Amino acid sequence: MAETAVSRFTPNSSPTISATNEAAEANMPLLRFLTCGSVDDGKSTLIGRMLYDCQLVHDDTLEALENESRSYGTTGREIDLALLVDGLQAEREQGITIDVAYRYFATSKRKFIVADTPGHEQYTRNMVTGASSADLAIILVDARKGVITQTRRHSCIAHLLGIKHIVLAINKMDLAGFDQTRFAEIESNYRTFAAELGLTNITAIPISALDGDNISSLSVRTPWYRGPALLQHLESVVVDSSIASAPLRMPVQWVCRPDLDFRGYAGTIQAGSVSVGDRITVLPAGRSTQVASIVTYDGDLERATVGDAVVLTLADEIDVSRGDVICAADVRAEVADQFAADIVWMSERPLMRGRPYILRCGQQSTVCQISELKHKINVETLEHTAGREMELNAIGLCNLSLSKPIVFDTYADNREAGGFILIDRLTNETVGAGMIRFALRRAHNIHWQAVDIDKHQRAAMKGQKACCIWFTGLSGSGKSTVANLLEKRLHALGRHTYILDGDNVRHGLNRDLGFTESDRVENIRRVAEVARLMVDAGLLTLVSFISPFRAERRLARERFEDSEFFELFVDTPLEICETRDPKGLYRKARAGEIANFTGISSPYEAPENPELRLQGGTLAPEALVDEIIRTLEMKGIIDKH
Ligand code: ADX
Repeated sequence: MAETAVSRFTPNSSPTISATNEAAEANMPLLRFLTCGSVDDGKSTLIGRMLYDCQLVHDDTLEALENESRSYGTTGREIDLALLVDGLQAEREQGITIDVAYRYFATSKRKFIVADTPGHEQYTRNMVTGASSADLAIILVDARKGVITQTRRHSCIAHLLGIKHIVLAINKMDLAGFDQTRFAEIESNYRTFAAELGLTNITAIPISALDGDNISSLSVRTPWYRGPALLQHLESVVVDSSIASAPLRMPVQWVCRPDLDFRGYAGTIQAGSVSVGDRITVLPAGRSTQVASIVTYDGDLERATVGDAVVLTLADEIDVSRGDVICAADVRAEVADQFAADIVWMSERPLMRGRPYILRCGQQSTVCQISELKHKINVETLEHTAGREMELNAIGLCNLSLSKPIVFDTYADNREAGGFILIDRLTNETVGAGMIRFALRRAHNIHWQAVDIDKHQRAAMKGQKACCIWFTGLSGSGKSTVANLLEKRLHALGRHTYILDGDNVRHGLNRDLGFTESDRVENIRRVAEVARLMVDAGLLTLVSFISPFRAERRLARERFEDSEFFELFVDTPLEICETRDPKGLYRKARAGEIANFTGISSPYEAPENPELRLQGGTLAPEALVDEIIRTLEMKGIIDKH
């Protein structure tokens, strides 16, 4: 059985290609590359073909493959090489490939790690994952279709992720009659687009992954083609390895303290090298000292270099913790809490300016917000477009503001130290990837001005404890009515108060905002900041906004100390709010006259752990105020009466 398959797919003979033994492989140069293309462009077949031509497929695998090809094959041939790669039953059944798969192979000249990234329109995430460590991208184009949106998007991402070498593999040439004109036309189209993008290092190769033309050796069917076969090119392409000569960067993975006499800092060298006696600086704190020793499991070293996992001991006792970065003292990394970065968005739920996300950069993790979306890129035309949101697969340049400074290099200088991911705080899903361009200068120039009177003194002067009482709930739930009554009660008790009400604030400070998701995010961000200032001024601050999203209510909560913030959920069922309809808005919303109406055509995310849940549908406002007063007494905000 296996023989039939082999005879039909006799590997193209090439003097350089053969499986190599492990010892020889260890010292060979490595090329990391990824393949990208749309579904059905032939990525899996291409990788399968490379493995097959390198004779890395064993006979028993071939036999299994032949059996499988009969059940699942899509090529109508006895053996479908794509099945070598698309190994998972589930993905075959769904007709899509689902995750990034890394494959290792070698020829006699080079080792390869290939990231196979699915090409389905929504799987940009996988491409970003695969591309962030790749030196070269093979962009597959179907000779019959030419350059399509996906080709452009993948090229944009490859460029953003710092990939300098592109192979434009124009596949399925067998179905295009090995036509030189067609090849030249696609190549020229692509080169025009790539030049605008700034990609210059492009090698276009006409191939048939299925038949093996120009993969491991030149094909007789393209006599007009003068360039190298794909594997020859991959074996010989020279890639930049400047990260080894870059300044030292070692993120501290853990502090190693087995006994009182030994204190070392463990991590993998991310850039450059380190020798005993080198002067280093630990960031973000900025203290400097010398390296006393470099410890490994196999004994101490005089010098270690990029990729080595080591434990460093230092000449002076300085404070170093997990997440700190040990840098060359003379060329330090940057430390900032605001920077500009290119972002690729990978979630169905759009990126919102002002919404908090977790930013993870190596070992470091902090909350961040997109303070400005400077522009998005139209991948067809490369034009810049404006917007407040970034949808799935969008690429844009943003300013970010972090809740604490991080240590980084620009992505152009160091892909690891300048790359980060964004994580949704509620779902823990990775929603975006970013590449840092530069720290914002304004971050360096704006400092905190110290003032001598603090919020406690301001509140004490008024004989009270300041706090923020945040009402959330549907329109018509009774928030404003209850807040108004509560303010009257507090006023009667001699408290100094203020009410921030959605409708009122939207007439002034927030008059530029509507009711789209991104406008509401900004609405709440601003009012949370104002509420914080009011609490700082010593006031009992009542906030009455629908505030429909958990993420922004959490952001508001984090602007305050624990004892200062009370989230009150006015839990009135939608049907009751709609029956009340005090402003006639539900009727209009049902008639389709108001877009994005909360509860009807825009979501309301109910609080999970509010300080107080008020039964706004069953209890009278006075009774709800009694409940709030009792809570404030219990929490020590007002005295018991
Ligand atoms: S929020 O969602 O951004 O927090 P906010 O509390 O400021 O909303 O404003 C809500 C008030 O605006 C409602 O009480 C209602 O009077 C009015 N409004 C007008 N259009 C809408 C809409 N599409 N959705 C909800 N409220 C609306």
